[in-house]
Amino acid sequence: MAKIIVTGGCGYIGAHTLVDLIENGFEVISIDDNSRSTAQLLAGVEAITGHRVKNYKVNLCDYNDTRAVFQENDQIAGIIHFAAYKAVGESVVSPLMYFENNLTGLVNLLKCTEEFEVPHLVFSSSCTVYGNPDAIPVTDETPEKRAESPYGITKQMGEQIIRSFARISKTQCVLLRYFNPVGAHPSNQIGELPLGRPANLIPAITQTAIGKLPQMHVHGTDYATRDGSCVRDYIHVCDIAHAHTLSLQYLINHKNATNCEVFNLGSGNGITVLEAIAAFEAVSGVKLNYAIGPRRAGDVVAIYANNAKAIEGLGWKITYSLTDMMRTAWLWEQKLDEEEKVFLKQNPALN
Ligand code: WQD
Repeated sequence: MAKIIVTGGCGYIGAHTLVDLIENGFEVISIDDNSRSTAQLLAGVEAITGHRVKNYKVNLCDYNDTRAVFQENDQIAGIIHFAAYKAVGESVVSPLMYFENNLTGLVNLLKCTEEFEVPHLVFSSSCTVYGNPDAIPVTDETPEKRAESPYGITKQMGEQIIRSFARISKTQCVLLRYFNPVGAHPSNQIGELPLGRPANLIPAITQTAIGKLPQMHVHGTDYATRDGSCVRDYIHVCDIAHAHTLSLQYLINHKNATNCEVFNLGSGNGITVLEAIAAFEAVSGVKLNYAIGPRRAGDVVAIYANNAKAIEGLGWKITYSLTDMMRTAWLWEQKLDEEEKVFLKQNPALN
């Protein structure tokens, strides 16, 4: 059975990808320092698949610790690299932390990829590399523009580092540019676990709806869009996860034309913030308490994907609708709230 290293396997997209890989016959191990995650989602992965995934609690910035994982696990068939910081706002405040963590970790991983001759690499990139595109939808060939945040710069530089590496390496690489991953696994065993106040739209909506947040703000409705709010391409996390399995199979089956290819992972539908809120209200039956606030620095006005290359090249299919995204996100938030209530009941001193 082909063994795959998933870095960031305890995270939101990482855990969903572990499930998909296991269900498609891969053996998996995780490398995750749990600086932004816990073992909770691995427990959910086990509940869904019956497989206990081993996690190496290693920071990729520590080369020796990272190398030790490869020494302990020979015959690695591929790596899926998720482990990185990804909060846009935080990256503006702490750029050096982002460059060090996201780029040093990547370089160390690539050094191990080369030394241990790992044949396949899938990299977690982002639509943020397009900046504010001149035309939408963006294709995989749309030229990059200045990224709006240090987080986005780390994704642009990460892609450049892998391109340069691919030129001198036999490792076959795929770069996956996610649009906006949302929702939770249909089993409701895994989902998004934002640390602190959520920056992303869907967890901000569900936490407001459940009462964890008193109110949420729509960051601006004075943009040149159909209702004034920003346009994004929301895509279910399970569809994103499956695209990683398909990418590995694409490389393993030598379907790739070059050893560094890019794919947009978006639904192909542009949805405004106000439309996303309306979709949530229709699914949940909850009237959302929101106010219109000022624009958020660094926001792209409108972006959504031309996903034809991923559909034709990888055989990727979008299987979850916007309604599914909102429903699974809401069910997950309600479960978290229920678990918190049970925990506080069992630990009254923490109330
Ligand atoms: C979406 C829209 C906000 C919260 C970023 C990264 C991207 C990816 C996803 C990692 C924007 C608006 C949000 C709120 C709001 N990162 N919003 N009120 O900024 O498109 O993408 O996160 O995978 O690479 O760039 O996502 O969910 O933060 O914002 O009005 O409380 O919702 O202004 O227009 P974004 P987001």
